[in-house]
Amino acid sequence: MTEQEIFDKKIDDDVRIEPKDWMPEAYRKTLIRQISQHAHSEYVGMLPEANWITRAPTLRRKATLLAKVQDEAGHGLYLYSAMETLGMSRQQSLDDLHSGKAKYSSIFNYPTLTWADIGTIGWLVDGAAILNQVPLCRTSYGPYARAMVRVCKEESFHQRQGFEIMMALSAGTAEQKEMAQDAINRWWWPTLMMFGPKDSESGNSELSMRWRIKRFSNDELRQKFVDMMVPQAEFLGLKVPDEKLKWNAEKNGYDFGEIDWEEFWRVVKGHGQCNKQRLDARRKAHDDGAWVREAATAYAEKRAQREATKKGA
Ligand code: 3HC
Repeated sequence: MTEQEIFDKKIDDDVRIEPKDWMPEAYRKTLIRQISQHAHSEYVGMLPEANWITRAPTLRRKATLLAKVQDEAGHGLYLYSAMETLGMSRQQSLDDLHSGKAKYSSIFNYPTLTWADIGTIGWLVDGAAILNQVPLCRTSYGPYARAMVRVCKEESFHQRQGFEIMMALSAGTAEQKEMAQDAINRWWWPTLMMFGPKDSESGNSELSMRWRIKRFSNDELRQKFVDMMVPQAEFLGLKVPDEKLKWNAEKNGYDFGEIDWEEFWRVVKGHGQCNKQRLDARRKAHDDGAWVREAATAYAEKRAQREATKKGA
């Protein structure tokens, strides 16, 4: 059997592809593309929520949000590590992010204007992330799949804390309920965009599905999301901002309106409300952290020298 045939058989038999296995260059490249963007999304995703750590209404909410943001940093580290097994250096990947060359999820380019946004991000955005990431626990590339198992365990805590905030607000004063409704009005459609373009416009899906990187298409996951979230919004007494939303008994799911694809591509191409602010903050954080990297490198070099001297003695 040729290397290609061995690879194809592994994919067909749902045998994980590991770093040392032969793989088509296109498979490696699309994994580096997707995993690096996923990692960048985790890093940039910390910024909108971090904005509210010092403004959280109680110590408990502050501690919970702090834990969630720290989790996202860890998710980024797992994913950069998975990406490095494919031969892409973390430095190069971060350079691509900081230069604006690399993509990250469009959802993080929207501002967090009120505390209800933090609840909505946990409930809707992490809810969408869970829907997208659970199938990735079965993605064909081993290190990526294993990283996802740990990420998904933490995501469910993220979503629960967000939903709890929304329950408190929607059962609170009229102003709090209005704040919750305002947040879902602003976050609902950008969250649907997280699942990517329509299947017919998705340039990567066909190969990703064939190679079992993706287990469901963009539209399939988006539909699952709407079907899951609409009853939760009704439970909260909140209105989903979509006049075309209607239960379709035939398909056993909701029909819903059309996404503003102009907005989607505008944000993906870097012209959203917060793209510049997010990248400026990422670059500053990276520069401000240079001394930590230098200290850690100096320590590692010193330690290696000591070990070598000890061995030599
Ligand atoms: N934001 C930015 N770019 C997007 C996007 C979005 N919401 N949706 C799609 N794109 C980009 C794709 O990267 C691709 O561009 P590229 O070819 O230059 O990489 C292009 O638009 C066309 O999209 P495709 O459907 O062809 O691309 P994919 O097959 O890669 O599907 C995806 C897009 C569904 C996002 C897929 O990449 C994926 O599942 N990625 C892993 C999960 C992920 O990255 N989630 C992002 C959020 S992370 C998160 O929510 C963390 C949580 O803790 C909050």
